[in-house]
Amino acid sequence: MADETAGENTYIVDAESPAETARLINLDRIITQTMGGALVGIDSPNKLHNILDLGCGPGGWVLDVAFALPDAEVEGVDISRVMVDYANARALTQSLPNASFGKMNIAQPLDFPDASFDLVNARFLTGVLLRDRWPGFIAECTRILRPGGIIRLTELIDSGVSTSPAFERLQHLIYQALWQNGYGFSIDGRTLGMTHALPRMLRASGYQHLRHMGFGLEFSVNTPGWIDFYRNAEIGYRLGQAFYVNAGIITSEEFEQLYQQMLIEMHSDDFFGMWHYMMFIGTRP
Ligand SMILES: C[S@@+](CC[C@H](N)C(=O)[O-])C[C@H]1O[C@@H](n2cnc3c(N)ncnc32)[C@H](O)[C@@H]1O
Repeated sequence: MADETAGENTYIVDAESPAETARLINLDRIITQTMGGALVGIDSPNKLHNILDLGCGPGGWVLDVAFALPDAEVEGVDISRVMVDYANARALTQSLPNASFGKMNIAQPLDFPDASFDLVNARFLTGVLLRDRWPGFIAECTRILRPGGIIRLTELIDSGVSTSPAFERLQHLIYQALWQNGYGFSIDGRTLGMTHALPRMLRASGYQHLRHMGFGLEFSVNTPGWIDFYRNAEIGYRLGQAFYVNAGIITSEEFEQLYQQMLIEMHSDDFFGMWHYMMFIGTRP
């Protein structure tokens, strides 16, 4: 696998940050759990031989699938050297020789031959790929899938809805910042604007048997999801601060105040919230 990351890195946080690695390790656990497992939506997993995860982060999804399907070869690629090294170390310590990870920029043509995978998976790329890269990205997924191969995309509907005014304000600002900077397909920057756009793009690329499933993670205070979501928010918004401020929609001082207020409000006895996301599956003709 080539160690190439030519081209611009458009991820909205620093992909080499150890804090981001830690955030994604935790995020993977809670998301896979709320979805009901790594291969939810796949009808006959045992028929899969070559599987790829694009933008795999620290590799949790790949490792779960490699464990569940010991006869399959499961690969993950990510732009972050830190995450790829961590993921390869985990494959070794978990004795999963069928899991491997490499560094690759998925916003560029993918360094894989045509028709080399039975399943191409990707999760949470809204803040990775600019909106004008999505059609090319799906075309590349299609090229590397075998006929009859499956594409499986999971994206956020929102970044959480809650009773905290500061949290809500930060959501509205991130939607606006993403939209202004060319991410997502919202028409006015009031939503993330991904989940309504994906089915159309998949249909345009010829995918058949399109299906979608919706999921929710409750992060209300005193529920099992709260602590993980809280930690994710604490790290994620801190790492995202530069993106907010560079978008020119908030000053550093205003951000700091909202961020601290959000953390306080998330501890309130009457704090409740829900995070929503969707998975899309289609078959390559
Ligand atoms: C929001 S995280 C999602 C990680 C993982 N898919 C998950 O669901 O847990 C986005 C990931 O994409 C990676 N990434 C960002 N830009 C990338 C690029 N141009 N090519 C490959 N990976 C990229 C980041 O390093 C990060 O691991």
